[in-house]
Amino acid sequence: MIIEPRTRGFICLTSHPTGCEQNVLNQIEYVKSKGKIEGAKKVLVLGASTGFGLASRITSAFGSDAATIGVFFDKAPTEGRPGSPGYYNTAAFEKHAHKAGLYAKSINGDAFSNEIKQEVVNLIKEDLGQIDLVIYSLASPVRTHPNTGKRYKSVLKPIGEVFTNKTVDFHTGVVSEISINPAEGDDIENTVTVMGGEDWKMWIDALKAENLLAEGATTVAYSYIGPEVTKPVYRNGTIGAAKDHLEATAFEITDDLKSIGGKAYVSVNKALVTQASSAIPVIPLYISLLFKVMKDKEIHEGCIEQIQRLYSERLFGGDLALDEKGRIRVDDWEMYDDVQEEVAELWEKATTENLAEIGDLQGYSDEFFNLFGFKVPGVNYEADVNEVVKIPSEK
Ligand code: NAD
Ligand code: NA
Repeated sequence: MIIEPRTRGFICLTSHPTGCEQNVLNQIEYVKSKGKIEGAKKVLVLGASTGFGLASRITSAFGSDAATIGVFFDKAPTEGRPGSPGYYNTAAFEKHAHKAGLYAKSINGDAFSNEIKQEVVNLIKEDLGQIDLVIYSLASPVRTHPNTGKRYKSVLKPIGEVFTNKTVDFHTGVVSEISINPAEGDDIENTVTVMGGEDWKMWIDALKAENLLAEGATTVAYSYIGPEVTKPVYRNGTIGAAKDHLEATAFEITDDLKSIGGKAYVSVNKALVTQASSAIPVIPLYISLLFKVMKDKEIHEGCIEQIQRLYSERLFGGDLALDEKGRIRVDDWEMYDDVQEEVAELWEKATTENLAEIGDLQGYSDEFFNLFGFKVPGVNYEADVNEVVKIPSEK
């Protein structure tokens, strides 16, 4: 079939298998071009199909020849209905990992559930014995708690007062003012339950209980801080409360891993166009200005550049360069004073009329479509494609 992008609001309903494969190939080539990393050899990636998790899986496999198990929640394609991009990404990743002689198996299901944890435990026992690196990169708006069956929803709201600021609809380029009402009721708790550290710790507990973590095993979860302009809705908002919890959980996990000399870290990453970040008001405008400034300064990075640098310079580079709160920072370039000052100046000026010029609106939009395998350079979108691709390891 011929597959075209179909968007509704901030989501794209279709995705393109050839474009997704090309994205994966480009990331593989980037990692290979940077040379080998003396890193972990048996890696579990939770949230492995898109964004930072996919980049982590690719960097482990093609940077360190690691065996990888990837867990994610994606829609398989059916006749006439494309799958979700993470499904196509994973099919492409496994295909090329296998071609390179690397072990790669994937589990598609709800990582928050006891069942999927058990499946992963069984798979590690059967195939890999022990894991030396666990990447936690889940991003989800909902979580069904495995002990109670209760379904929690996260919200993106400020805490305490209404937040009013600019935002952009990146499909139309219209800059407008948006007001977001503060959290109420159980909003904060619910968001912490979905995006905080509880599930991360449950994963590590489950693996440790079965002796599936190697001596000195490391686990890393991803966080975000960001600039002053997004603080009320991001870092000081409900999602920030969840990130505070995630960051605190790293210390708890490190305590739990003492007996095996293991460590848990949070890495604070750069703002990037991913499915998760496109849904947060105000952030797309910030990102479009940030990209413009960072591209002009030739310090722009995407997911793969971020994770390749995290691995080669921090995790396995001998210098974690932890901040005062014990976090790894690969958002360091985003947070440079000159970058933040320039973005803040542009923020004041940004209007519908000038954004295409002072911001990287086109770059944002292109990257958004790229997430779904569209507008990827070199892909022939007129060609008939088979939408019913399968992930090789899927039963
Ligand atoms: P993403 O949406 O691209 O990836 C999320 C992954 O989680 C996908 O593989 C998805 O399949 C998987 N997933 C979601 N729900 C699941 C479930 N119930 N069971 C199994 N898998 C599930 O997100 P991302 O932007 O790469 O974010 C990953 C992490 O990085 C998050 O913690 C996010 O806060 C953080 N982060 C993001 C940014 C950014 O700008 N996007 C910046 C810094 C940090
Ligand atoms: Na991810």
